Amino acid sequence: MTNKISTEEFYDNFALKYDDIAKARSNLKFHNEAVKIFHQYNHHQGTILDIGCGTGFISELLEGNFEYTGIDISAKMLDYAAKRGYKTIHKQIEKALPEIDSQSYDFVLSLSSLLFLEDAKTAMEHIYRIACQAILITLDEMTEEYIKSSIIQSYDHSKIVIENAIEDYFIVGWTSSNQGVDIRTRVAYIQQKN
Ligand SMILES: C[S@@+](CC[C@H](N)C(=O)[O-])C[C@H]1O[C@@H](n2cnc3c(N)ncnc32)[C@H](O)[C@@H]1O
Repeated sequence: MTNKISTEEFYDNFALKYDDIAKARSNLKFHNEAVKIFHQYNHHQGTILDIGCGTGFISELLEGNFEYTGIDISAKMLDYAAKRGYKTIHKQIEKALPEIDSQSYDFVLSLSSLLFLEDAKTAMEHIYRIACQAILITLDEMTEEYIKSSIIQSYDHSKIVIENAIEDYFIVGWTSSNQGVDIRTRVAYIQQKN
């Protein structure tokens, strides 16, 4: 097993390069899928809670008039999100979610961030509680080999039960720049019944 560093330290170091890597064609896939779904379901305005928002890159791609709030553990990633107009919550997702009111955001997004939580099920319970209109999450399929050789801790939540998803499918979500392998990503979209 490779020695691990903290997720916070990893993303603080990665922040400067993150957008360039995300923009590279092979890495845009899960972002593009989110854009496609928002467009398909005609979501063009409202409040978005972006969990593990990173640099807020998705806000460059979604078309419309959204107000973004982002949770992230990395202050350096959040600096970029703030420049993009995000309200920021600099906390662990696990600590931030229980403090957020029920039905307080129109949309909840979690793009490639639940893989870093040991307990994705509890996070999902909060996500269902917080979203008024719709939820869009991506769950990366982390192989045992990848988890062992990666320098940050991750978990495979790609098979968890997702209630009431109206879109639920796998794509090749991203390509690991360190390990050079394609990562399959489950994309799930849920509309809330109000
Ligand atoms: C792969 S990046 C995805 C960023 C963004 N969602 C996107 O689509 O470009 C994962 C982000 O999750 C954040 N993160 C990882 N574990 C976290 C945790 N336990 N609490 C808060 N943020 C976390 C990282 O700092 C990083 O910014």
